[in-house]
Amino acid sequence: MGPRLTMRKPDRNAPCWCGSGIKYKHCHQEFDEKIMRFQMRGCEVPSRKLIKTKEDIEGIKKSAVINMACLDEVGRQICPGMTTLRIDEIINEVTYGMGGIPADLGYQGFPKSVCTSVNEEVCHGIPSPDVVLREGDIVNVDCSTILNGYFSDSSRMFMIGEVSEEKRRLVEVTRECVDEGLKKVIPWTLMGDMSDAVHRHAMRNGYTVVREIGGHGCGNAFHEDPWVSFVAAPGTGMLMVPGMVFTIEPMVNMGGAAIYEDRKNGWTIYTKDGKPSAQWEIEVLVTEDGAEVLCR
Ligand code: MF3
Ligand code: CO
Repeated sequence: MGPRLTMRKPDRNAPCWCGSGIKYKHCHQEFDEKIMRFQMRGCEVPSRKLIKTKEDIEGIKKSAVINMACLDEVGRQICPGMTTLRIDEIINEVTYGMGGIPADLGYQGFPKSVCTSVNEEVCHGIPSPDVVLREGDIVNVDCSTILNGYFSDSSRMFMIGEVSEEKRRLVEVTRECVDEGLKKVIPWTLMGDMSDAVHRHAMRNGYTVVREIGGHGCGNAFHEDPWVSFVAAPGTGMLMVPGMVFTIEPMVNMGGAAIYEDRKNGWTIYTKDGKPSAQWEIEVLVTEDGAEVLCR
């Protein structure tokens, strides 16, 4: 009898774990070995379930069509005098009209179908008939959709009528922060490099980035691993591997980074100093040679 091994080597000729139907040796073997080399060097690496299949990616893209249509429609209708409850109605109309389900509704008990966060509200603002948008407000609309079990997630800022120069700049720089992060979504590099690019762009414009709330893997569930910081150091964090899908969604504050939670509704996050906060969110696929934005 030959030598006994504690673990059998994966059968190179068996069908690949990814479901492609192709032999492992012609499919993900090289990929797995590359990940293992990073892991042996002490790198945090994604588990197999975070690697999306072709079918997963198609599913997420179809879900994203609805999510982006929601935000497009909000963009067409949003105006001074509108309540944030009306935004919730638009999300419901578009989402159900296109056969989707709003992912926020009932998520950990969240009472509405979308988050609407105005001015010093950082995130998780609850749509309400009592919140009327006024000229000069900035509002984040954060929308998430489920279609056939696939999740899409993105958010945009809207400026209501004429907005002060300093608020406009906050909104624009926050958008640039997301783009700076996106440029650093490069396969076989570390997530912290992406986070740091986001953070540095905010800092060089005199802003701070919220530390406690970040992005997340997304696609087969609403919130998957990894948790994505936007204040992490370069050279840290999970290895970005082709097939991973996660969000880039920094919350950028005009004043300090400190935040607090609404004790009455248990959801809404505000800046401690009452200064405005902005956020944009995109959902990104790591590809063989860079990144593809699945939802924005
Ligand atoms: N859409 C948010 C995100 O970007 C999550 C909102 S959860 C909710 O991750 F319950 F507040 F809707
Ligand atoms: Co998100």
